[in-house]
Amino acid sequence: MTFEPRIVGFLCNWCSYAGADLAGVSRISYPTNIRIIRLMCSGRVEPVIVLETLAQGADGVLVMGCHIGDCHYISGNLYAERKINVLKKLLARTSLEVGRLRLEWVSASEGGRFAELVKDFVEQIKALGPSPLAGDKPDKNILAGVLAAKAAAEDFRLRLLVGREKTMIDDGNVYGEKVSEEELDKILNEVIDTEFVRNRIYLLVKEKPLSVKELSERLDLDSKTVLRHVVVMRRRGLITVDRVEGTSPLYTALEVGR
Ligand code: FES
Repeated sequence: MTFEPRIVGFLCNWCSYAGADLAGVSRISYPTNIRIIRLMCSGRVEPVIVLETLAQGADGVLVMGCHIGDCHYISGNLYAERKINVLKKLLARTSLEVGRLRLEWVSASEGGRFAELVKDFVEQIKALGPSPLAGDKPDKNILAGVLAAKAAAEDFRLRLLVGREKTMIDDGNVYGEKVSEEELDKILNEVIDTEFVRNRIYLLVKEKPLSVKELSERLDLDSKTVLRHVVVMRRRGLITVDRVEGTSPLYTALEVGR
């Protein structure tokens, strides 16, 4: 049986959705693999929903908005670009292919371009094959990574950084001090790394109590790094010691801390 990808498209109302509509009324054929969700602006795309869509087994997610400079809300598509950038960084830390997510610009008059992009994305996903998270038996390890990425995307620090990224580069902080793209990218990478690992730790100890050694083996990280995260997570009331086996404390998740 040939593989037919299941793709979810998040399209902005004013350009891309109108472009898709034009493809329809102009009878331009395109693959039926895409299910479209209309947003008022591509900037409204929610990273947590994108990651949940992939966790639920969608083979690909295609986000489309107005061309840069044409957004109905002035700069919504610039925010979309930054959100997708963060999503790709998060996905790169899981074992799910980053190529399952794509951002494109399509105007209301580009019905043909819409159809071509959908065809191209379907081919891209066909080359990747079915999502390892689709079906009755999703890959547990990859799913754990995507769920940790989703939890990281919910994190306040990360949301704040993505929301203020453009302002910090263009206008600077309250003292007018601007941050360069490179500096901000470095901060973003550090926050993403930290939140991703902490959420992986949290989800692992939520399943069953584990020691630092066991966590470092599961995460393929050195135990010093894991211990550093565990100390911070204990201080923040996210995890606690369940019991001590030999000389090793086993940690468990605290629901109230979240
Ligand atoms: Fe289309 Fe903002 S309205 S991207």
